[in-house]
Amino acid sequence: MHDGSGRVVVQNLTKTFGQVLAVQNLSFTVEPGSVTGFLGPNGAGKTTTLRMLLGLVTPTAGHATINGRPFHHLGNPARVVGAVLEAQSFHPNRTARNHLRVYAAAIGMPDQRVEEVLHLVGLRDAAHRGVGGFSMGMRQRLALATALLGDPQVLVLDEPSNGLDPEGIVWLRTFLQGFARQGRTVLVSSHLLSEVEQTVEQVVILSRGQTMYYGPLDQLRKAQQSRVVVRPADAPRLTTALEEAGHTTIEQLPEGVLAVAGVEPEQVGDLALEAGVAIYGMHTQQADLEQIFFQLTSGQFSGAQLNPASPHFQQQLLHQQYQQPQYQQQQYQQQPPPGWPQQPPPQQPEQQQWQRPQDGGQQ
Ligand SMILES: Nc1ncnc2c1ncn2[C@@H]1O[C@H](COP(=O)(O)OP(=O)(O)OP(=O)(O)O)[C@@H](O)[C@H]1O
Ligand SMILES: [Mg+2]
Repeated sequence: MHDGSGRVVVQNLTKTFGQVLAVQNLSFTVEPGSVTGFLGPNGAGKTTTLRMLLGLVTPTAGHATINGRPFHHLGNPARVVGAVLEAQSFHPNRTARNHLRVYAAAIGMPDQRVEEVLHLVGLRDAAHRGVGGFSMGMRQRLALATALLGDPQVLVLDEPSNGLDPEGIVWLRTFLQGFARQGRTVLVSSHLLSEVEQTVEQVVILSRGQTMYYGPLDQLRKAQQSRVVVRPADAPRLTTALEEAGHTTIEQLPEGVLAVAGVEPEQVGDLALEAGVAIYGMHTQQADLEQIFFQLTSGQFSGAQLNPASPHFQQQLLHQQYQQPQYQQQQYQQQPPPGWPQQPPPQQPEQQQWQRPQDGGQQ
C-alpha cells in the first residue's frame, strides 16, 4: 500500500554477488522526522542496500519499500524519494543550471524549482559554470540539488560528506536536520560514525552485511559509560558491598580484580572502607562512541547483534567495548567473566523484535 508515510522499510534483505554475500538478512525501519545514519566500514554492504532500496539492484531475497511500496511501484518516484549515490557523473560541458533544467524537465518540474535548489545547496553563484570544472564538494552539492528537484519526502544519501570541506559538512548537517524537522525522512550512509554523530538520531550499524546495532544513537551513548577497575584485598566481600549498594554491573577479572560500571571511584572507595576491605589499586577506564563503533564493526563478533531492549544490553556492550586492543594491553588481562560465552549465542527469533519499531500508532 502507498501509505504516504515517508517510512522506509527494509525486511530480510539479502544480496549475493557470486560468492560474495554482500547483504545478509537485513531488517530495519527508517521513520520520518529524524535523520538515520547507515553506518559500517568499507565493504559492509551500505551501497548495495541503498541500491536495492532504489530499485537499482534486485535483491536475492527480502524486500525494501518506501511509503509502503517497492521503488518501481512508486507512482512518481522523484516526488517521493531523492537519492545521491556514489560516483555521480555529470556531463562536463553542461552548466550546473542546465544540468538541473534537464532533470527538472524529465520529472515535470518547472525551471523555477532549479533556482530554488541551486539556492538551497549554495550553488547559485556557480550555476553558470561548466560542471567539468567543479570541485568534488561542488559536485556533491549539485548531486544533492538534483535529488531535491522533485521536493521529495525521503532523502537517501550515500556518503554525502565525501569531498565536503568543514563548512560544507556543517551546512549539510543543518540542512538534513531541517529537512527531517519538516516531517521528512533522511537516510544517510557513512563509514565514519564521527562524521555523522552530530547529525543523526538513529543508527543502523552494519558489519559484513549484517546489522550489529539498530536503534537510537542516544542508547549507544548511554552505554559508553566508564568503569572503575579496582584491586581489593577481598574481592567477594567488596562485590557483596557493591551489589548491596545497587552497583550490579561488575565484571570479575583475573587476580581478584573487579571492573564496576556506572559508579564513581569515590563511591567504590567509600564502600570498601565501610566494608573494611583494603584497596591496592584503582583506576577509571573510558570508552568513547567511536571505540564502540569500531568494536561493533571489527568483525570479532560477526553475526552477533546487540539488542537494546535486552536487560543485558549495557553489560553486553560494555563487555564488547573493553575487549579492544588498547584495553587488552592494560595491566589486567581480561577474559569473559564466568557465565559469559566466548562467542555470543545465536540470536533467538523472539529477540529480533527489537529490529522493528515498537508499533504503537503505526498503520
Ligand atoms: N556489482 C558487484 N559485483 C560484485 N561484488 C559486489 C558488487 N557490488 C558490491 N559488491 C561487494 O559487496 C560487498 C558490499 O559492497 P558495498 O559497496 O555495498 O559496501 P559499502 O558498505 O558501500 O562500502 P564502502 O564504504 O566502501 O562504500 C563488497 O564485498 C563488494 O565488493
Ligand atoms: Mg558504499
